[in-house]
Amino acid sequence: MNEVIKTDHFVSEAVSIIKSTIAESNESVFRMSLCGGGTPRPVYEALVNEAIDWENLEITFSDERCVPPSHDDSNYKMAAEALLSKVSIKENNIIRIKGELDPVESASQCEDQLRKRSNGSIYMHDLLLLGMGEDGHTASLFPGTSALNESERWVVDNYIPDKDVNRVTFSYPLINASRKILVLATGEKKKKLVNDMIDGDESFPISKISPDNGKVIWLLG
Ligand code: 6PG
Repeated sequence: MNEVIKTDHFVSEAVSIIKSTIAESNESVFRMSLCGGGTPRPVYEALVNEAIDWENLEITFSDERCVPPSHDDSNYKMAAEALLSKVSIKENNIIRIKGELDPVESASQCEDQLRKRSNGSIYMHDLLLLGMGEDGHTASLFPGTSALNESERWVVDNYIPDKDVNRVTFSYPLINASRKILVLATGEKKKKLVNDMIDGDESFPISKISPDNGKVIWLLG
């Protein structure tokens, strides 16, 4: 099920959706995945001032660059600076993708962490945030890359030829196991891409974001 929200108040609308989703949850531990890139940063910064019971949140990352957590390109670093270092989240409730490791090892360790927390069934996020690129990628699921074909593993290494870099990313099975997905997209090009998808264009990696038993909210700013 899809919902498209076009807004002139992108950050406050995103915060409102995140807060209400947490408040409505009956789960003892609320599982939320953070996305990278530049779009979510002001949303994370705004969340700092909200009354959220951070001690009951478990945080994952939908993808990571293959750099140390201290590197300016690190999605973890961005989230830690903007949010995680400023709220009372438990350190062992942050499941970081270790970008400093070999990508295959990093993906394997992250998946092991998720499997330890999901007693045999697939790890289900209560809310998974995603960004999107103007080429229709999401997480690090880029057009024409091998991770698009992953149907078993939850977290995989993915070489991105256009950037000549490795990434570590959640796969479609893990993403689509989420109860709710919030896609954060700003700018006219992304807005048009979403509209093309809604009109049936399934050629983009993000077109295949379709939760098995969940909802997608496309927040367009
Ligand atoms: C990353 C993200 C990626 C990002 C998009 C959009 O690691 O970069 O996971 O999928 O969300 O590239 O990035 P912007 O928000 O900077 O446009």
